[in-house]
Amino acid sequence: MNARLDAATEAVLRRAMGEGEAPALLASALHYAVMPGGARIRPTILLSVAMACGDDRPHLSDAAAVALELIHCASLVHDDLPCFDDADTRRGKTTVHRAYSEPLAVLTGDSLIVLAFDVLAEAAGRDADRALKLIRVLSRRTGMPDGICAGQGWESEPQVNLSAYHRSKTGALFVAATQMGALAAGQDAEPWEDLGARIGEAFQVADDLRDALYDAETLGKPVGQDEAHGRPNAVAALGVQGAIRKLKDILGGAIASIPSCPGEAMLADMVRRYAERMTPVAPVLHRADARR
Ligand code: IPE
Ligand code: IPE
Ligand code: MG
Ligand code: MG
Repeated sequence: MNARLDAATEAVLRRAMGEGEAPALLASALHYAVMPGGARIRPTILLSVAMACGDDRPHLSDAAAVALELIHCASLVHDDLPCFDDADTRRGKTTVHRAYSEPLAVLTGDSLIVLAFDVLAEAAGRDADRALKLIRVLSRRTGMPDGICAGQGWESEPQVNLSAYHRSKTGALFVAATQMGALAAGQDAEPWEDLGARIGEAFQVADDLRDALYDAETLGKPVGQDEAHGRPNAVAALGVQGAIRKLKDILGGAIASIPSCPGEAMLADMVRRYAERMTPVAPVLHRADARR
C-alpha cells in the first residue's frame, strides 16, 4: 500500500513543481515537505477503508489519499513556523522554514493546500458526484469551524476546551480519512465518522504520551512541547498510566464502532495493529519512571 501511495504522491508533486517556468526554490520546498514523509497513517487508513468497502474506483481512492496527506503535510509546515511552535526539526530533518525560509514555508503550506483540492477536482472524471463529496469532506475537516484551522485556532484562545481542541486539531483529519475512504468507494460517509473520531482521539493521547516520554532523536521532532508551551494534554490531565488506560479504552470503542462492510474484520485487525504501535513500550515507561 505504501508503494501505491508513494507513486501517486510523487506524480502529483512532480506536476506541481512545474517545468522550468516555476520558482525553483518553492518547487524544491514542496517536495521536501512531502517526501519521504512520516508514518502516512491518515492515507493508509483511508485506503484501508476504501478497500474494506470494495475500492471500485482505485484512481479516486488514490487521489483522496494523496489529497489528505498533502493537507496534513501543509499543516505540519505551518505548525512548525515561528508564529506557531517554532520547531527546528520534523520527521528527522530540518523544518521547511529553517531549510528554506519563512516566506517559502508559508507558501509551501499554501501551495500544498491548494494542490490537495486540485488533485480531487482533477480525479473527478466520470465520478464527479463522488469527487464533489470528497472535496466537501476534506474542506470541512481542514478549515473552520470543524477542521484543523479551528484546532490551531484554539491555541490563541484564553480558555481552551481540551476535547474541542483535540477533536479539531487531530481528530478532524482522521474523520476525513475514514469518511473519504468510504466515499471514494461509493459508500455513505456518515456511518464512518465515529470510527475516524475514535482513532483520532486515540492518536492524540498517544501523541501526548510520546511527547512526554520519548526523546527527540526517536521521534525526529522536538519533545516536551506540550509542557514547554503550557498546552493542555492527556498526560498532564491523567498521568502516564491514566493516559495509557484511556488509549486502550478508546481503541476498544473504535473496534466496536466499525460499520458493517465486507472488510470489517480486516479493519478491526488494522486498529489492533495501530493500538500496539501507539502504546509506549515497557522500556520507555521504565525510563520515564526513573526520571521522576
Ligand atoms: C503529527 O502527526 C501531528 C499531530 C497531529 C500530532 P503524525 O505523527 O501523523 O506525523 P507524520 O506524518 O508521521 O510525520
Ligand atoms: C500539530 O499538532 C497539528 C496540526 C498541525 C494540525 P502538534 O503541534 O501538537 O504536533 P507536533 O508535535 O508538532 O507534531
Ligand atoms: Mg502545534
Ligand atoms: Mg507542533
